[in-house]
Amino acid sequence: MRIGETANAAAAPHGKPLDGLTVGDQPEPAVPDGWVRVRVKAAALNHHDLWSLRGVGLPDDRLPMILGCDAAGLDDEAREVVVHAVIADPAAGGGDETLDPGRSLLSEKYPGTFAEYVTVPRRNVVPKPAALTWEEAACLPTAWLTAYRMLFTRADLAPGATVLVQGAGGGVSTALLLLGQAAGYRMWVTSRDEAKRERALAVGAAGAFESGARLPDRVDAVMETVGAATWSHSLKSLRPGGRVVVSGATSGDAPPADLRRMFFLQLSVVGSTMGTLDELARLVRFCEVSGVRPPVDLSLPLQDARTGFERMAEGDQFGKIVFTA
Ligand SMILES: NC(=O)c1ccc[n+]([C@@H]2O[C@H](COP(=O)([O-])OP(=O)(O)OC[C@H]3O[C@@H](n4cnc5c(N)ncnc54)[C@H](OP(=O)(O)O)[C@@H]3O)[C@@H](O)[C@H]2O)c1
Repeated sequence: MRIGETANAAAAPHGKPLDGLTVGDQPEPAVPDGWVRVRVKAAALNHHDLWSLRGVGLPDDRLPMILGCDAAGLDDEAREVVVHAVIADPAAGGGDETLDPGRSLLSEKYPGTFAEYVTVPRRNVVPKPAALTWEEAACLPTAWLTAYRMLFTRADLAPGATVLVQGAGGGVSTALLLLGQAAGYRMWVTSRDEAKRERALAVGAAGAFESGARLPDRVDAVMETVGAATWSHSLKSLRPGGRVVVSGATSGDAPPADLRRMFFLQLSVVGSTMGTLDELARLVRFCEVSGVRPPVDLSLPLQDARTGFERMAEGDQFGKIVFTA
């Protein structure tokens, strides 16, 4: 038996995603050949899980589905591992599994991590260093991996660059802030919320501004996950030749493109999604050697998961919401 979250997106197609959330028992999944079973010690919540409850990427014919992309736990040989959430074939993506057209994330096609056990392909685990707690390690596979790839693979930045992060409080945003700061970038953030701006300054942001505010200077790059609400500000904030790296669109995905600004200032818009197993291993090592740790906003037992989902739906968090076994 296992406790899991099951999404019933059909019950809540719009507006009220939590109506589709249930906590209950699911049969333990079989372990296919070449896959391993991990006993989940901690699993972190992502906005992806709210999208799943809205039916995004999770059609009715796959319900009920155990949600959750992130986990850290013990494999069947009692090794401490961090789970890689991207289920894909690197060869099909030219060596990069995030480019495999058939890729999926845990909880899209295969059962997710909000359960006592999760099964993943054998290659989809990396060792958890003892220096990271279970909760900290569980934050890394989605939000933190996405931030790592945005900053270090997709942004084309050198230390000393000025980088703007939109929406300071989010899981990806806090990861961007802390990783970028540790890598020697001047990190600026925006937030709708004064308390979150203060928190960002307290953890190392070089500047924190109200959403949409005019900045003291143009930036080399913008890290964008908020989408429509901040897109225009992101483009206006870039220096000529600057780059916006986008991995999410929480507030809407179809803002005006502002094409004249884009060509006139020779801006680049670069998409980014998740990261490779190699990037996850390097992220884990980065945290180990730099001392950077994911801020955990709230840690709850898995059976109280609804409280965590509610907090994320309200947008109140600063950092990650984590469920423990
Ligand atoms: N492509 C990928 O691989 C990938 C991976 C991870 C996440 N994502 C996407 O990235 C987005 C963020 O994910 P997350 O897990 O970090 O979510 P999250 O923790 O819920 O963070 C969302 C943040 O966005 C800001 N925000 C939301 N609505 C806003 C609005 N109307 N105006 C201004 N700011 C707003 C908020 O910041 P403030 O309250 O501070 O303003 C909030 O803290 C989601 O859409 C998710 O699906 C994509």
